[in-house]
Amino acid sequence: MRKIIVAIDGYSSCGKSTVAKQLAQYAGYTYVDTGAMYRAVALAVSRAGVAGDEKQIIALLPQIKISFIQTSNGQHVCLNGEDVESHIRTIEIGNMASQVAVIGEVRHFLVNQQQELGEAKGIVMDGRDIGTVVFPNAELKLFLTARPEVRAQRRLLELQEKGEHPVYEDVLHDVNDRDYRDTHRAESPLRQAQDAIVVDNSNMTKEEQMLQIQRLFDDCINRQ
Ligand code: DC
Repeated sequence: MRKIIVAIDGYSSCGKSTVAKQLAQYAGYTYVDTGAMYRAVALAVSRAGVAGDEKQIIALLPQIKISFIQTSNGQHVCLNGEDVESHIRTIEIGNMASQVAVIGEVRHFLVNQQQELGEAKGIVMDGRDIGTVVFPNAELKLFLTARPEVRAQRRLLELQEKGEHPVYEDVLHDVNDRDYRDTHRAESPLRQAQDAIVVDNSNMTKEEQMLQIQRLFDDCINRQ
């Protein structure tokens, strides 16, 4: 059967990675979390102490090698061979990722690697610019969305499960801030590709959403 590229874009904390992982498993495809790649760059920037200094961040890029490994807990991202999954899922690194993601050179650096990962197709990639910039010819493009309050509530639960004690208003503020930065940056802002299918999951269970997405995938495969 012909393999396709599935591009999943959308706002932060709207469940892109859960959907992408489940769809990759359903299809027998490779999953690539591009947000984790921006987060890994942010971690490298933070460790090098060059946050906020665009020139130094760009100079650091040749020393950054990003890869993925499969573990018993799913896919983990590695920075120069070190599994950094547990270091990149904090609010601080999320915010820094959104800041380094406005730098054109950072985007080119990661987009090139993402395009290489998709060369053989059979891939589900999630991010902000996958259907618009990384794979404008992807056979299936999904744009996931949910109301900011719903996303903040989900994010709050996730952080609480990790033992953190965030305040709802702070999390909502953070969600709105990131939405603004992601949609207003000059380089590849988050926007819906014209041919993307919008899935608003504010009022859907995970199961309902997954069934809808599996159906969209099957329909797309049948049209190939
Ligand atoms: O999906 P995430 O929260 O892990 O992404 C972290 C940040 O990385 C997000 O605020 C925006 C940026 N990002 C991006 O600009 N382009 C992508 N393809 C993926 C993430």
